[in-house]
Amino acid sequence: MSLVDSLIERMSLTEKLGQLTMTACGQAVTGPTIAGDSTEAIKSGAIGNLLNLVGAANVHDMQRLAVDESRLGIPLLIGYDVIHGHRTLFPIPLGEASLFDPEAWASSARESAKEAAADGLAMTFAPMLDVARDPRWGRGAEGPGEDPFVAACMAEAKVRGFQGGGLTHADCLASVAKHFCAYGGVTAGRDYAPVDISERTLHEVHLLPFAAAVAAGAAAIMPAFTDLNGVPMTANKVLLRDWLRGRLGFDGLIISDYNAIAELIRHGIAADLADAAALALKAGVDIDMMADAYRRGLPLALKRGTVSMAEIDESVRRVLILKERLGLFDDPYRRGKVRESAAALEKRRGLARHIATRSIVMLKNDGDALPLRRSVRRLALLGPLTDASAEMRGVWWGAAAPEGHVTVLQGLRTALPESQILQADGVAIDGADTGGLSAALRLCESADAIILCLGEAAVMSGEAASRAHLGLPGMQRQLAEAVFEQAQRASIPVIVILFSGRPLIVPWLVEKANAVLAAWFPGSEAGHALADVITGRQGPSGRTPVTWPRALGQVPIFFGERPSGRPFDSHDRFTSKYLDVANEPLFPFGFGLTYGRFELSNLRLSRAAIALGDVLTVQVDVINRGAREAQETLFLFTHDKIASVSRPKLELKGFGKIELRPGGSGTVTFSLGAAELRFLGMALEPVFEPGEIEILVGPCADRTQLQVASVQLVA
Ligand code: GLC
Repeated sequence: MSLVDSLIERMSLTEKLGQLTMTACGQAVTGPTIAGDSTEAIKSGAIGNLLNLVGAANVHDMQRLAVDESRLGIPLLIGYDVIHGHRTLFPIPLGEASLFDPEAWASSARESAKEAAADGLAMTFAPMLDVARDPRWGRGAEGPGEDPFVAACMAEAKVRGFQGGGLTHADCLASVAKHFCAYGGVTAGRDYAPVDISERTLHEVHLLPFAAAVAAGAAAIMPAFTDLNGVPMTANKVLLRDWLRGRLGFDGLIISDYNAIAELIRHGIAADLADAAALALKAGVDIDMMADAYRRGLPLALKRGTVSMAEIDESVRRVLILKERLGLFDDPYRRGKVRESAAALEKRRGLARHIATRSIVMLKNDGDALPLRRSVRRLALLGPLTDASAEMRGVWWGAAAPEGHVTVLQGLRTALPESQILQADGVAIDGADTGGLSAALRLCESADAIILCLGEAAVMSGEAASRAHLGLPGMQRQLAEAVFEQAQRASIPVIVILFSGRPLIVPWLVEKANAVLAAWFPGSEAGHALADVITGRQGPSGRTPVTWPRALGQVPIFFGERPSGRPFDSHDRFTSKYLDVANEPLFPFGFGLTYGRFELSNLRLSRAAIALGDVLTVQVDVINRGAREAQETLFLFTHDKIASVSRPKLELKGFGKIELRPGGSGTVTFSLGAAELRFLGMALEPVFEPGEIEILVGPCADRTQLQVASVQLVA
């Protein structure tokens, strides 16, 4: 008999329900309530899993309670939100998505897992894979952006990085892909609001990254708080049991989100905790995070006959199997046993700097305001995010302390020791105080260049942080307008660095600034990364993974929209448009300037026609006409012009990079399997339809910048 079978045979109902319970410790607040002391419940076997416990010693102490003092000695599973780093922070996921580099995504997850495992943790509630196309929603900051292909690539890379060489390895974490699913589609961009989307969008957009996570071997899935077309995900049997476990064959763990099972009552589908617990268990949710619904509700549900002991045992088995796969029975203390070396931490900071530098998206650079000329000797560094270590962390900062993250001021002072850098906040990130404005403006008077650091506070995106106005908070616009006016009079270039967890709607700022960098929240090496780009030590190479709206009224706005029967035509009144703003975004998906100037030519396909099973090679020549070395990112889109259902105007199928010196040239090659040109037909089943497919390659999702060719799909 296996260990798991023998344990289940010996377990009391309390002990079984304990294994289905995950309780929060007080070292982080990630939900509405914090449990009291769990010590006695762990010793009695009434709690079998914890979250928000930090520190190898703390983990060891709690683990010892379970292993040495409980009747069956079943080790605890301890999880934490290691989203973009544990103590060393990488850019927020939306910033990291700007790299369009799966190996970089995997490497930061690998390093984060090492750091978290060294702290004793065995699970991370990541990656977050919610495709988001509404920047009012704050949680887009935690995710892969607007496109399902990118989300699927990130899913694979992150699961591979977190889980590394295998779950028994002491430096690997069980990855929890979340939030299943379509959370990014919340009504009006308001967090936790209902989600209404079509079956087609569900299958073509929101399920794709989770299929990729399962294929990559994700150990667990976390359902979203939200309902989907009226069915709360935590009780969504069709998607959890039938699709995830049935269709995909997912046999891992399903962990509810924080208190989500109890919230089925507020969703209006459960009369009480026993009802809620029964609905969740029958839908396939194995662990109840912080609702205490399983412990308090399932005994009554058993009495009512709405659940069976067999259903409870099925979930207990999955929990015990994951603990076994994590090696917790063999050695419960294997994670947190070995302190990391200083060299390991140094290497990690180096990777964080490398990734942060490449996450920066240059949105504007008129007159080559960047990189700063060597003649720049006096820099005015203004704004509330110039010297803000804690803010550089962004959302979900894990166990990272507020201090110790390199600020813009620190980064520039290190990079430009001979320059005089005069710094002033001017105004706060939020609030109506303009008391510091005049002092800040005085610093402009003798400056050779001005750098404005503006944007959101870290807590203005992420969970429960939707915003209905997406401009600059507080009095930052007043500061910026005053600086632009003064700088213009003195012909001083103004460079703006925007920190945000979402695209900000600031067309007026883009209009007036000489250069604009979207920095998202770059993490622990923020200041060095920005200094690298500003001084030209590294060229900017980031590309925005989300469309930047010109106006909030355009939202949702994304490149993968299907065509209208009346596409915009300036000569025809009766076409799809706004009376008061253009249809085009401020910046399209994939946009990002470099210090080079790239020209594409000679787009060519390996075949004129392909059948299912064939692979098409797509190539394009690139030359750098600029004066500096730079890295170009190119995107491969397709468009199925005539099909049995209307297809998106552009579908992303690949991305590639090339680094070229001034005058250098090269070729970027993509491989496109004919199978990737299948789509969901009328019955939402994959179909392969002969006909012409446009192949489009270029620097962003702006058709006017794309090279176009065609291939025939043949039966
Ligand atoms: C939060 C979040 C989820 C997180 C969990 C544990 O409410 O929705 O993303 O992993 O609780 O902190």
